[in-house]
Parts: sequence; C-alpha cells; structure tokens
Amino acid sequence: VDDPLRGLLDLSRRTAEPLARQLTGQLRSLIADGRLRPGQRLPSSRALARSLGISRNTASQAIEQLVAEGYLVASQSRRPVVAEGASLATATRGGKEASAQPSRFRLSRWAQQLSRTHWPPAYDGRPRAFQPGLPDEREFPHEFWGRCLRHAARSSLHVDRSHNCPELQEALLGHLADLRGIKAQPGQVIIVPSAQAGIALITRVLIEAGDVVWIESPGYGGAFAALQAAGAEVIGVPLDAEGLTLAGRRKTPRMIFATPSHQYPTGRLMPVDRRLALLQFARKSAAAIVEDDYDGEFHYDGRPVAALASLDPNARVVYLGTFSKATIANVRVGYVIVPEGLAPTFALAQRHLGLAVAVTLQKALAEFIGAGAYLSHVRRMTRLYRARRDRLVQALAAEVGDALTVESPAGGMQLLARCAPSIDDVALSHRLQRAGVTARPLSEMLYHRSRERGLFLGFAAWNEAEIDAGTRVLGRCLR
Ligand SMILES: Cc1ncc(COP(=O)(O)O)c(C=O)c1O
Repeated sequence: VDDPLRGLLDLSRRTAEPLARQLTGQLRSLIADGRLRPGQRLPSSRALARSLGISRNTASQAIEQLVAEGYLVASQSRRPVVAEGASLATATRGGKEASAQPSRFRLSRWAQQLSRTHWPPAYDGRPRAFQPGLPDEREFPHEFWGRCLRHAARSSLHVDRSHNCPELQEALLGHLADLRGIKAQPGQVIIVPSAQAGIALITRVLIEAGDVVWIESPGYGGAFAALQAAGAEVIGVPLDAEGLTLAGRRKTPRMIFATPSHQYPTGRLMPVDRRLALLQFARKSAAAIVEDDYDGEFHYDGRPVAALASLDPNARVVYLGTFSKATIANVRVGYVIVPEGLAPTFALAQRHLGLAVAVTLQKALAEFIGAGAYLSHVRRMTRLYRARRDRLVQALAAEVGDALTVESPAGGMQLLARCAPSIDDVALSHRLQRAGVTARPLSEMLYHRSRERGLFLGFAAWNEAEIDAGTRVLGRCLR
C-alpha cells in the first residue's frame, strides 16, 4: 500500500505533549512546508493508527483538527486529502526555494546597514563576570519596588494616554537637579523604553543621511550602529586624557555623541575646561551634542562634575539617561531631555514611533524616586561598586601583573584593562568566553585606525568572590 507518511512521523511517549497534539503538529508542518502536496491522499485514521501504534481515537482527533483548520479535506473514502493553498511553498511559484528565502523582500537601506554593523548583544546567555553595563540586581530593594508597582497598577485604571507621565517627569527632574545640576521644564523630558530607544529617537529627529556625526573612539557601539544605519557619516574621534579631542582637521559635525561623565569604555571623566571647550566648539559649528549620561549616577572619586547639559546656555545639548543601570535591567525606562524649543517635535516623533513606556511603570518609578528609595539605592550602590572597582583593580594587579594596564575609572560600572598592541584581544575574548568569563575586546569599540587593544570589564554586578574567581580565569588565560 502506498503510505505517503512513511518515515515522516516521529511520535514520542516520553514527552509531556499528548500524542494527538504531536501528530497534529507534525502533519501540519509537512503540509505547510510542501512535503505533502495538495491533492495528496493520506491514510485513513484506522490505517494511520495501526502504522503508528496509537489509538484510532488519537489519529481521528488529529485529522479532525486539521480538517477544521483547513489543512485537510475530508473525503468519502475516509482518506483525508491535503487541501489546496495550505502550503506557503506551493502557493508561491518559486516552490521550495521561495519558502527557504524569506529575505527575497527588498530590505530598507536602514535594515541592510544594521546587519552590516557589528554591535554584539548585551547578553549572550546567562550574565556572568565581567559582563559590562549590568547592575547587581541582588541588591535592589525588590520588596519596596513591588509595592510601588502595586500602587501604580491600582491608580492607573483611568490613565490618560499621553506618553510622558508628569509625576515621573517632575520626580526625575528633582533628582537630576540635585545630582547632575540639570534644570529643565517637565515638558522637555521624553520618557522612552531605554537609552538605546532615546538614541534612535534623537537620530530620527536630528539626522539626515549624509550628515557628519562625531563619536568618541573608542566609543559606544549602540550609538555608532544607530547613527551609521541612519546613513550618517560617522567619524571616530580619538581621545586624550581629558576625553574627546577637538583639535585636528575633520569635517564639521552636525552632531557630537559623547559620554563625558565616564567615557565609554575608558571610564575617564571629562574635566570642566574640556566640557566648556566642547560646548564652545558645538556653538561655533552649529552642532548638537548628545550627552549620554548612562551611568553618571555612580561616581567614586572626588565630586562629580556637573552634566554638560547644565553648563550649556545655548541649548545645544540633548541629555540622555537610563534607569536600567541604577535600578534593574528589567526596568526598561530611559529618558531624553531636549532643548525647550525641540520638545514639541520630539513629543510628536515619540508618538509616531510609538516609543511609549507603560504608565504603570512610569508611576511606580515616580513613587520610587519621590519616596527617596532611588537616591538611597544609588548611594548604597555607589559605596558597593566603589569597593568592587577597587577589588577588581587589586585582583588584576595580583593575578595578571604587567600584562594588563588598568585605568581605574572615577565612576561607572566597568573599567578598561589595556594590553599590548601585539595581543589579539578578539581571540583572547573568545578564549575567555569559553573559559567562563565575559570580557569585551577594546578593538571592537574603536572607530578610527588605532592599535589600542584591551579588555572591557564590568565589575558592578559581581561580588568579591565572583570578581576573584573571574580574575583567576583571566590570569590563567593570559599566561
Ligand atoms: C554608553 C551607553 N549608553 C547607553 C546604553 C543603553 O542603555 P539602555 O540599556 O537603557 O538602552 C548603554 C548600555 O550599556 C551604554 O553603555
């Protein structure tokens, strides 16, 4: 007898999934991907049950379900027939080839460019030492945060649909005025799902294809990718001890992307004279500055320098921040503080792009900040992270000695350990990954021709034992 299903079905009694559901799913896939052709007759439920060693009832259930879904047609002969048009592969003229290549769509320039830009995902599996950019979530006041969420969930039953919750705008501004010297009106605060969303929004509003943008080199890959995908001509600007350098002949920028609080990835603090020079330069060249203050809250040595945005009388700075570093990564809330004259345009763009954060989350954050829990958590984490930074610096000195040169950062959540230019830091990073330690290579963060090499190590999320264990692995791999 011809059995078109011979060898194609594989049911298992060892999984929790009922046999009828397994059979339905497997038959559906065979039809959908064209391995069973339209018009093909299948065995009757009795024959199917016999050949598979299952009950007739189970086989009938699967067939009836697929008839109901339109994959099979019941027939007089009791042998169901594969329906016409149930397979994408046969519905398109290209047959198998067409279903295997969904990328036959013409992609936008933006999407094409994105796939060419290398920006590794923040997590590749379970986070582990020394994954950068992660806070220690074990230390977060989950109990109180849960209470804020519950209150907010109850109170936002009758929400208005505006994207930016005034309570959060005001609470955030109060916090930033104290800590970063920023003064703005609530309407200038645009609440977005992450700093990265903020970068996308800023790019969309201010950048045209072909525009020249300066970015620090080494610098933040998320910004580089977003700007390059938008078609900007992104120029990597080398750093000196004070941060982004302004001298040198380069094309005049329309935008400068910088991380003056703790330069990403070197951790250097841009002193106030360089900040003022940068503002002056931006005014002269009519450029906007994006100040990414992603972890500006954690400052360890001396007093933090006020944010660029607070020093700027000419409203050239767009200030960018995120809650994902000072709370927990799952609090997906970032913010952009824009010059007053741009606020309506940004709010409009935000609405059109649908970059909204749930009102419940915004209200919960407003309460969390308003009750003082945010500031006291930041203060506690600052003490903790400072000790962890010191621990990592000491452990590296003891374990790897001269092989790595560490710049102890004045703040932030990660540090840069430089190695000799002859070392392939990408290969080293792969080796470390296999040995159980995450260490991003510096050479992947460079946007100008440079022989700088090194490893970028996050210390905030790891306790002393984890730091010590990670450093021992590092030492072993380097030796
Ligand atoms: C320099 C810099 N800017 C922005 C971000 C993005 O923050 P978010 O997670 O809110 O998108 C990060 C995250 O690591 C960062 O390191």
